[in-house]
Amino acid sequence: MKVLVVGSGAREHAIVWKLAQSPKIKELYTAPGNAGTAHISQNINIDAADVKVIAKAAQQKGIDLIVVGPEIPLSRGIVDHLESLGIPAFGASRLAAEIESSKVFSKALMQKYNIPCAKSVSFSDYAQAKEYVQQQRPPVVIKADGLAAGKGVVVAATTDEALTALTDFMQSKKLGEAGNHILVEEYLSGKEMSLFAFSDGTNVVPMVSACDYKRVNDGDRGPNTGGMGSYSPPVFNSAALQKKAMETIMVPTIKAMAQEGRPYRGVLYGGLMVNEESVKVLEFNARFGDPETQAILPRLKTDLVDIIQAVIKGKLNQIQIESTKDACVGVVIASGGYPGGYRTGIPIDGLHDIDKDVMVFHAGTKIGATPWEVLTNGGRVLTVVAMGKTIAQAREKVYANISRIKFEGAHYRKDIALFK
Ligand code: AMP
Ligand code: GLY
Repeated sequence: MKVLVVGSGAREHAIVWKLAQSPKIKELYTAPGNAGTAHISQNINIDAADVKVIAKAAQQKGIDLIVVGPEIPLSRGIVDHLESLGIPAFGASRLAAEIESSKVFSKALMQKYNIPCAKSVSFSDYAQAKEYVQQQRPPVVIKADGLAAGKGVVVAATTDEALTALTDFMQSKKLGEAGNHILVEEYLSGKEMSLFAFSDGTNVVPMVSACDYKRVNDGDRGPNTGGMGSYSPPVFNSAALQKKAMETIMVPTIKAMAQEGRPYRGVLYGGLMVNEESVKVLEFNARFGDPETQAILPRLKTDLVDIIQAVIKGKLNQIQIESTKDACVGVVIASGGYPGGYRTGIPIDGLHDIDKDVMVFHAGTKIGATPWEVLTNGGRVLTVVAMGKTIAQAREKVYANISRIKFEGAHYRKDIALFK
C-alpha cells in the first residue's frame, strides 16, 4: 500500500514510525512532515490544512490510504472530501469532528445523552454571560466554543479572572470567531487522563490511556503549552476505572453520535477527570493526542494498518487490539521562549548519540544545508521516548539520553512521570 500521513508534529512522526513497521506498506509519505519523517518516509511540502491540495497530491501519487493527524483538516472536512474522491481516509468526518471543533455542540451532546461531564451553560450574549458569571462561586471555567490550539480554556480562580476571559473571548475577540459562543463551566478537581478508543461508527475498541503535562515548567507551573510530556499507562488507571470510562463515556458517545446522524469513525480521544470513583469528560478530541501518541503507539502490538482498515471498513469487531504491559515515557524538548515567541533555524546536536532503544520523534525540525544537519523549526521540537518494564525504568532511560541532545535555548521538564 501507498500511505500518506497528514501533519508535521511528533504525533505524526510516531504514526509514520508505527506504520513503517507494517509489512503491508510499500511507500510512505508525510505532508508536510519534518526532518524526522523525512528519514523514514517521503515528505511532500504542502500545507496540512489545505484539504484540496492534499487530495490532489494523493491522487497524483496514487495513494491507497490517508491517515490524518491534526484537528484542523478534520474540522474542514478532509475525510469527507477524500472519500468523495474514492480515497480511503482515517479520521473523523467534518460533522463527527465537531465533537472537538465545537465545545457547545459536544457539551449539548453529553447533556442530551447523560454522559458524565461538568455542569455548564452556553452563551452567545456577553451581558447574559457576565451576569451568570457574577452569580457563580469561583473557581469557574470559561471555554471558547471553537478550535483555539489550547488557548480557549481559562480556569479562573476569581470572578475577576472569569470576567476578563469573557471580555477577551466575546468582546475583544482575542480568538476570533472561536469566541462567538462560550461555555461557563463548573470546576472539576482530580487527576486528568487521556483515554483513546477506535470506532468504526458502531463498534468501539479501547486503546490504552496516557497522562499529558500541559504546563511548561516543573511542578505544573507556568503557562499552558501544547503538552510537554506524557506517560502511559497512568498510575491511577485501574481495569475497573477503564471499564467504567468505556461503559459510561466512550461507548455511549459513539452511540449518541450515530443517533445524531454523525457516525464517528476514527480515534476518539476522551480528556477525562478522575476523582476517586468518579470519571467525567473535560473535552473530546477527534484525533490522536500530542504528546500522548508518542507514549501510546510504542506500546501498541497490533499492526496499525490492520486497525485503520478495520475502522474504515466497519469491521472493528473482527480485530483484537493488543498493547504491551510495559510502560512508556515521552519528554518534549522545546525552543527557548516557547510557549511564547521563539527563534527557529538553530542547529540541533547529539541526535546520533542516543541509545538504540530510545526513540526521538521530531516535531518542529527541518533538514539543514546538508542532509545530516537538523535545525529547529517550531516551538515543540522533539519528543524523546523510552519503554521500560516500569514507568520508573522508562523515565530513567529518557532522562539518561535527553541531556545528550543540545541546541541553543532548549528546555524540557525534569519531572515527567515522576511521582513523589
Ligand atoms: P480542554 O481543552 O477542555 O481539555 O481544557 C484544557 C484544560 O483545562 C484541561 O486539560 C483541564 O486541565 C482544564 N479544564 C477544562 N475544563 C475543566 C473543568 N471543568 N474543571 C477543571 N479543569 C478544567
Ligand atoms: N494532548 C493534548 C491534545 O492533543 O490536545
